Amino acid sequence: MDYFADSIKKAIRTVPDWPKPGVSFRDITTVLQDRTAFRKLVDAFVHRYHDQKIDAIAAIDARGFIIGSPLAYELNAGLVLVRKKGKLPFDTLVEDYELEYGTASVELHKDAFRPGDKVVLVDDLIATGGTMLAASRLIRQIGAEIVEVSAMIDLPDLGGSRKLRDEGLSVYTVCEFE
Ligand code: PRP
Ligand code: ADE
Ligand code: MG
Repeated sequence: MDYFADSIKKAIRTVPDWPKPGVSFRDITTVLQDRTAFRKLVDAFVHRYHDQKIDAIAAIDARGFIIGSPLAYELNAGLVLVRKKGKLPFDTLVEDYELEYGTASVELHKDAFRPGDKVVLVDDLIATGGTMLAASRLIRQIGAEIVEVSAMIDLPDLGGSRKLRDEGLSVYTVCEFE
């Protein structure tokens, strides 16, 4: 495990059987409230992208915003919000995706990117990959280029990161929980 992964993984709290029996919830609040761990988390993403030309960070509502904002600031890039449906006021594109029970939708302003913009899509965690895949489809519809989809945590047993790679996306995660 690398310099960043080890300490950040240690700072994540696992809450068993939440929000329902059988789920191990990976709680990032313990990283955020630890000044050393939070700084290292942002540094991990900055280190990954600082030598590339990135026009914008796209961050997914809600936990992705927490990582996306300082990353955009540090990279001198724009910040684009991929929001849950019904929150964005201007003209939007919508993409539905499957949850374990039912469906959800993410939404993006149509003028969020210029064609050819180089974008890193950020969220806190990849489980089934449904959220990240829906968000990446919206970005591609506008004609922006996804340099990489990026998350703090991968849950590889749920197959999301594999599914995203099968869609031709480059995937980076800081740490993983089997
Ligand atoms: C969580 C998490 C990821 C997503 C991962 O968000 O923050 O965005 O689920 O799951 P997936 O890979 O199966 O799509 P959620 O919408 O539950 O809540 P949030 O608003 O707190 O980010
Ligand atoms: N979102 C989906 N699965 C999750 C998990 N196990 N922990 C935290 N957030 C999640
Ligand atoms: Mg989320």
